[in-house]
Amino acid sequence: MEVLELQNKTHDESKQGEAFAPFTAEVNNFQKYFYIESYGCAMNFSDSEIVAAILNEQGFGATTNFEQADLIFLNTCSVREKAEQTVRKRLTEFRKAKESKPQMLIGVLGCMAERLKAKLLEEEKLVDIVVGPDAYRSLPGLIEEAESGQKAVNVLLSREETYADISPIRLNSNGVTAFISITRGCNNMCTFCVVPFTRGRERSRNANSIINEAKNLFEKGFREVTLLGQNVDSYYWIDETKNEVVTFANLLEQVALVSPLLRVRFSTSHPKDITDEVLYTMAKYENICKYIHLPIQSGNTRILQLMNRTYTREWYLAKVDRIKTILPDCGISADIIAGFCTETEEEHKDTLSAMEYSKYDYSYMFFYSERPGTLAERRYKDDIPEEVKKRRLAEIVEMQNKLSYQSNLEDIGKTFKVLIEGESKKSGKDWKGRNSRNKVIVFAKENYNLKPGDYANVKVSECTQGTLLGEIVD
Ligand code: SAH
Ligand code: SF4
Ligand code: F3S
Repeated sequence: MEVLELQNKTHDESKQGEAFAPFTAEVNNFQKYFYIESYGCAMNFSDSEIVAAILNEQGFGATTNFEQADLIFLNTCSVREKAEQTVRKRLTEFRKAKESKPQMLIGVLGCMAERLKAKLLEEEKLVDIVVGPDAYRSLPGLIEEAESGQKAVNVLLSREETYADISPIRLNSNGVTAFISITRGCNNMCTFCVVPFTRGRERSRNANSIINEAKNLFEKGFREVTLLGQNVDSYYWIDETKNEVVTFANLLEQVALVSPLLRVRFSTSHPKDITDEVLYTMAKYENICKYIHLPIQSGNTRILQLMNRTYTREWYLAKVDRIKTILPDCGISADIIAGFCTETEEEHKDTLSAMEYSKYDYSYMFFYSERPGTLAERRYKDDIPEEVKKRRLAEIVEMQNKLSYQSNLEDIGKTFKVLIEGESKKSGKDWKGRNSRNKVIVFAKENYNLKPGDYANVKVSECTQGTLLGEIVD
């Protein structure tokens, strides 16, 4: 059953354990090396690139071999219990490396650092440094402290920090797609969620720094940027020089204008905040990808209220209708939680029917995991037995598999513009890329002289549940 929790590509465990490969060429010229492993959502992966820039500035080079590292960092996630367990297991593996190299420092970054604070030092004896998501600028001082044998902690949350002036060092990069974070923190109080506690208040990053980052990436050959935030639609920044408010729709437009060859994606949209203005902006620009990640969490209004999602089933489904009216070819995906407190069998079925109505291309599906300190933990009993949660999750996964396959079958015979991201894992003779709707397409290279970052028109001939297969057409 464990694999069921691994569906999440963007937000968590599927990428766990993936070490970042150094992208910078100068990597071999350093005296000291750091190794960083990231868990959790795209925001954490993006933060690791900020951390890499800060460490680089201090003379540390990146390595993918942790035994070679002077500093090991784990950028952690607290969103579900399992995510924390994985990190703890990994820490015991690092203990061995440290035994043979006692001067090696181990640091825990990210949401687990924030949630557990100094307690983490008691619980995990071999950890030397604990740093929360808003305190990465203090890393150089903390490393110095730790080098002198003290335990170093900074978990202060900030109302302003956006790391806007730090140019991230792209790690594990395919050179084609990149994340740009546009907001940090979250002001929503979904009762199940630990993120507002680990990431603090929401704040928006300077729009000019976002646009400059997009321009720089484009100049370096990148062809797709994903604008990141827990709730991108609440992006709000005042440009004091022009006395203008920049909304998410304005920002999206400005990033789209960097170049028609630069694709723009974004994640995550909260159903309560995505506006018609955003949908019309998407419709106006071909290079804004027609794909919206719109987490539903549950298809039942009573459960949604307990979750404090602030919308009803009907309101959510009307939003789906609105998307399909303004953007008929738009793909939609969701996050779904099975077995939230007091959920009845009927209410679970409401989730299944809402999925069917929305026809998600894919979903990230989880069973409810109670998190200490959240409103749900304080207010409600986690009363759905684990086997019931897992059975409901299995039904949700089965429904999604059916919907994904149906959606892919409908694409057979259609031609899509595909951005090539690299070679297919299965065969060096094939390219792999995605269409605007975020579907993965694999196709033969043939004799066309294409490379990653190029666009190709591909006609779909076959599909599996997860992938479209096709061939290039002129
Ligand atoms: N900001 C995003 C989601 C962030 S967390 C949003 O609002 O949509 C990513 C996903 O993890 C959530 O959408 C939710 O489906 C899941 N999740 C969060 N807390 C959880 C918990 N306690 N148990 C199970 N899944 C949870
Ligand atoms: Fe968590 Fe809700 Fe904020 Fe998403 S919107 S990060 S689920 S509190
Ligand atoms: Fe992301 Fe996990 Fe933190 S989902 S915001 S890394 S708790």
